[in-house]
This record gives sequence, structure tokens and C-alpha cells, in this order.
Amino acid sequence: MITNNAAETQAIAADLARTLHGGEVIALIGDLGAGKTTFVQGLALALGVTDRVKSPTFSVMNEYQVPDSRSPGLVNHKISRIIHVDLYRLQTDAELTALSLADERRADTILLIEWPNAVSVDLAPDITVTINHLGEDAREITIATK
Ligand SMILES: Nc1ncnc2c1ncn2[C@@H]1O[C@H](COP(=O)(O)OP(=O)(O)OP(=O)(O)O)[C@@H](O)[C@H]1O
Ligand SMILES: [Mg+2]
Repeated sequence: MITNNAAETQAIAADLARTLHGGEVIALIGDLGAGKTTFVQGLALALGVTDRVKSPTFSVMNEYQVPDSRSPGLVNHKISRIIHVDLYRLQTDAELTALSLADERRADTILLIEWPNAVSVDLAPDITVTINHLGEDAREITIATK
């Protein structure tokens, strides 16, 4: 899919959100500034998250509570939280181990990982979102499910 602004990318993320049941691991692939965090914002909003989703560039891992009330159009899910990680700054396996990412893969969780290839993550994603920066505000978004 092609998008021409951040809102269009967030709308695609919202569409994906409506198909999630809980337990999914989503890998986000794309250059710096491609729109990975923007995508997560759209996905979280669609699931009813009211906190502002910020880049985990420095925090590495951010957690958001998903409210009980079902937003219209969602499948009957058991999602109670979103974990958003950005592995860009991680450099050692020890840092990765300290995160215990595998423990965050839970039936009540959507785990979204930016820069999953920055370190040797041993966590096969269920869904891979690839965002290609075509230029200016144009992006090509590919969503692949395993
Ligand atoms: N079509 C588009 N889709 C997504 N973002 C867009 C689009 N057009 C412009 N933008 C802008 O591009 C920027 C994307 O930044 P974002 O933080 O989401 O990137 P990122 O892939 O998470 O980068 P990083 O690897 O540094 O974390 C935002 O400022 C967003 O508003
Ligand atoms: Mg980001």
C-alpha cells in the first residue's frame, strides 16, 4: 500500500489493529524516520489506548494499557497491553537478555519491535510490517503474516 501522509499510515495500522486477537509479535522494518513509530501510534489508538505513544528510542521499551471497553470494529480480542520496543540502540546480547523480550510475548499482549535485526532477536514475528521511504511524505507499506 502507498500512503502520502502520517494519518494514512496510521489508518493502515488501525486496519491491522482490528484483526489482532492478542499474542501477536509484530516486527517493524524501515529506515530512520520511515514511520514505524507513527504506525504504532495508529495501531494503539485503534485499540483504545489514550496515552500518547512516544518513540522508545531512549527508553527502549514502553508499555501501554489497552482499556477493557471495546472500540467499535475490533475483533473479540483479549489484548490488555501493548509493548513497544526499539532495539536500535542496543549493542550487546547482554542488553537484549536483560530485556527478557520472550517473556513479553503473552496472549494478552501485542508486542511491537522496531529494529528487530539490530541485535540477534530470537523471536519469530507473526506479522512483519515493512515501511519503505519513497520520498517526501510518500511511503510504501507491506504487511506480511507468517
Ligand atoms: N506517509 C507517512 N507515513 C508515516 N510517517 C510519515 C509519512 N509522511 C510523513 N511522515 C512523518 O515521518 C516521520 C516518521 O517518524 P517515525 O518516528 O514514525 O519513524 P521511525 O520509523 O519510527 O524512525 P526511528 O527508526 O528513528 O524510530 C514522522 O514525523 C511522520 O509525521
Ligand atoms: Mg521509531
